[in-house]
Amino acid sequence: MHDAENQTGHRAVESLLNYETVKYFGNEALERTRFEKAQLDYEKAAVHNKVGLSVLNTGQGIIISLGLVGLMLLFALKIKEGIFTVGDLVLINVYLLQLYVPLNMLGFAYREIKRSLIEMAAMFGLFEALPDIKDDDDCAELVFRDGNVTFDRVSFSYGVGRDVLKDVSFDVPAGKKVALVGGSGSGKTTLSRLLFRFYDPLSGTVQIDGQNIKNVRQDSLRQMIGIVPQDTVLFNESIFYNIHYGNTKATKADVERAAKAAKIHDFILSLPEGYDTVVGERGVKLSGGEKQRVAIARTLLKKPKIFLFDEATSALDTHTEKALQENLNEISKGCTTLAIAHRLSTIVDAYKIIVLDKGRVVEEGSHHGLLKKKGYYAALWAKQSRKENEKS
Ligand SMILES: Nc1ncnc2c1ncn2[C@@H]1O[C@H](COP(=O)(O)OP(=O)(O)O)[C@@H](O)[C@H]1O
Ligand SMILES: [Mg+2]
Repeated sequence: MHDAENQTGHRAVESLLNYETVKYFGNEALERTRFEKAQLDYEKAAVHNKVGLSVLNTGQGIIISLGLVGLMLLFALKIKEGIFTVGDLVLINVYLLQLYVPLNMLGFAYREIKRSLIEMAAMFGLFEALPDIKDDDDCAELVFRDGNVTFDRVSFSYGVGRDVLKDVSFDVPAGKKVALVGGSGSGKTTLSRLLFRFYDPLSGTVQIDGQNIKNVRQDSLRQMIGIVPQDTVLFNESIFYNIHYGNTKATKADVERAAKAAKIHDFILSLPEGYDTVVGERGVKLSGGEKQRVAIARTLLKKPKIFLFDEATSALDTHTEKALQENLNEISKGCTTLAIAHRLSTIVDAYKIIVLDKGRVVEEGSHHGLLKKKGYYAALWAKQSRKENEKS
């Protein structure tokens, strides 16, 4: 019954959260049947449960009543024979009733205990789940010196047959901007997850200022890095709350400054409710570009030592992107920055460009150097420039 109940809740939440997708494909009926099926399963389990309980209670009642009647008859006979008095009968009747009432509770207690045991088993199961990434007992804080990030022969796989990174080595010198480019699925986002230590590499190391991030405390590592992820998810709260989330100690003025730097302040003020505008589930009431800029403002507020932008401006038009890019360059000046780029025009100024293909570093160098090489990057650049020209 518990499982079925969880299932119905899960189905309802899932189809309601994804209501847009449900409607895009006209699958309301499908969702309804799936929900109905879950409900039916729950109904069956609940009826089963109730029937069991009724049988238990009725059975108990019958046994108790039979016992009572039998004993009374026995006593009546003994009184007739003159062995017991009527007073004895009343006494034994009271005793029996006192004994039976708690016995009747037994069914209830049994059900409650059983239910608690099931819930406890689930809870202990959760306790026993070990986190994949754990701090060693004796690990130290990450000591930030100047922000050198090094990937050293890193290989990674999400599971058997899902090898993503193969022997990736590169470094991001302190205070420089390094760009990461490559086709979709080449492992760029995975590299950012490794740097943030959501996963540990299968082999090889990721180092910051010479310290293997495996050997430092996770909170000290994550405090230092500011990520603007590829897919921004916001809380269904006000815009202010969402930006303020980046640093809960920041003041209102700080939040506005970050919003200005992320080129979203003017837009927010143009909304009837300004910073108090609620953004909807996961931020559905904002456009992709607006969401990205809120996410950038949030990360700027965190004031990290190392920036990681994962296609952070991909949903913006070229014009806004340029303006925002200038701001970002300004802010991240002197900070180590790893920029995963979608549009190559945003990273021509990068100190170094790493080209990733199918999980391997295939080229590495400055924009001009790579163009001269006439390899993968040059081809990518030619393709994108052609597209941009066609558009304008
Ligand atoms: N959580 C995950 N579990 C399993 N496979 C994943 C997961 N995330 C990404 N992948 C796979 O890893 C590969 C690289 O993904 P990703 O790093 O997101 O690429 P990129 O950001 O370069 O487009 C893809 O083939 C993707 O399907
Ligand atoms: Mg990606």
